[in-house]
Amino acid sequence: MGNLDDIIRGRRSIGKVKNDPVPKELVEELIESAVWAPNHHGTEPWRFIVMTGEGRRTLGQAYEDIAAEGLLDVPDAEREQRLNKEMAKAFRAPVVIAAICVPSDMPRVNIAEELAASHAAVQNLLLTAHAKGLGAVWRTGDPAYHLKMKKALDLKDREQVVGLIYVGYPDLLPPVSRRTAGKEKTIWLEG
Ligand SMILES: Cc1cc2nc3c(=O)[nH]c(=O)nc-3n(C[C@H](O)[C@H](O)[C@H](O)COP(=O)(O)O)c2cc1C
Repeated sequence: MGNLDDIIRGRRSIGKVKNDPVPKELVEELIESAVWAPNHHGTEPWRFIVMTGEGRRTLGQAYEDIAAEGLLDVPDAEREQRLNKEMAKAFRAPVVIAAICVPSDMPRVNIAEELAASHAAVQNLLLTAHAKGLGAVWRTGDPAYHLKMKKALDLKDREQVVGLIYVGYPDLLPPVSRRTAGKEKTIWLEG
């Protein structure tokens, strides 16, 4: 495990990973790290669905069903090709973790904060993946928020996908990424 600053700055979205399986214990470590995220009122508003092997078909089928809605007028052969591509998306990494926000129903709880905590959990997961030599990318896109995705993953009413985290061993050099310096995003109010 390296220095925190290096881990934070060195983490990149890794969209291309090898097919090599990731040990289950390592995936479990990522999730154990995720659950240490800050959360207001101690709600721990998250759960995770880990998809590997043929288990990724659940996600692929959802991608297919969602895409199919927009392909009604497309000729059969082309339609099938497009749907196969949708299924293939779920197989881009050996492990796909759906991070789910499970908002508390306590009256004083604010949904924005439940989402904030879930997002922080995803960042913990990504940083730990990077620190352990894995590559990961946080994916969403419209399908992640589609009702058919919710149904496919068997989410309850108020639950929602906050990320589909694709994880594996990196198969590309870390891309270059840039950030505007924090000091350009900061004002100080001082005495
Ligand atoms: C909420 C959220 C959703 C994202 N969805 C996608 C996505 O659907 N596809 C993708 O390639 N990257 C996605 N990303 C990753 C960003 O593209 C990436 O973080 C950004 O390009 C900066 O690169 P870096 O992560 O390597 O620093 C998402 C990031 C966030 C925070």
